[in-house]
Amino acid sequence: MGDDLEKVLVTEEQIKARHEELAAEIDADYAGRDLLLVGVLKGAVMVMADLARWLHHPCEMDWMAVSSYGAGTTSSGVVRILKDLDIDIKDRNVLIVEDVIDSGLTLSWLVNNLKSRGPASVEIYTMVRKALAFKVDLAVKYVGFDLPDEFIVGYGLDYAEKYRNLSFIGTLAPHVYNR
Ligand code: PRP
Ligand code: MN
Ligand code: MG
Repeated sequence: MGDDLEKVLVTEEQIKARHEELAAEIDADYAGRDLLLVGVLKGAVMVMADLARWLHHPCEMDWMAVSSYGAGTTSSGVVRILKDLDIDIKDRNVLIVEDVIDSGLTLSWLVNNLKSRGPASVEIYTMVRKALAFKVDLAVKYVGFDLPDEFIVGYGLDYAEKYRNLSFIGTLAPHVYNR
């Protein structure tokens, strides 16, 4: 695994500290209101598990699996629901939990889809926002780290389903994705 990585961008300690800060903001922002965390499978699993444990505010958790299809490795903006929520979100305060916003197309679609179900509110929590995401008009309330547009993996982020289990976020060595 060591050879596949180029450098560490965000350490496990930095991730932990950022969750702690943002969880305190969420506790304050949602005081007196219900909170439903919606994790986007599979990348958001680590973020969800850690964020939820830093929150003092009571919350529920539900999951969606979506797939953006189209050619290539980049998101097309055309999204298909593979697994929908179990919970009815009408009048609920929804906080979508993501590992990374890249083009922002997945979340643009998801926010609109969830808003059409009549929730009280819909906000976004992402551990990483890449520079490209600014091209779409997406209000992201909680951002862990703004990172440049590099090939990053770890802490939920995969390359061909691998490297999700790294406890830090790093860049992949070019020889891995060029082979
Ligand atoms: C990745 C990532 C986000 C999305 C971001 O998920 O976890 O959900 O892409 O891309 P975008 O901003 O360009 O739309 P992916 O579809 O790779 O599925 P995964 O979470 O199972 O890895
Ligand atoms: Mn994902
Ligand atoms: Mg992926």
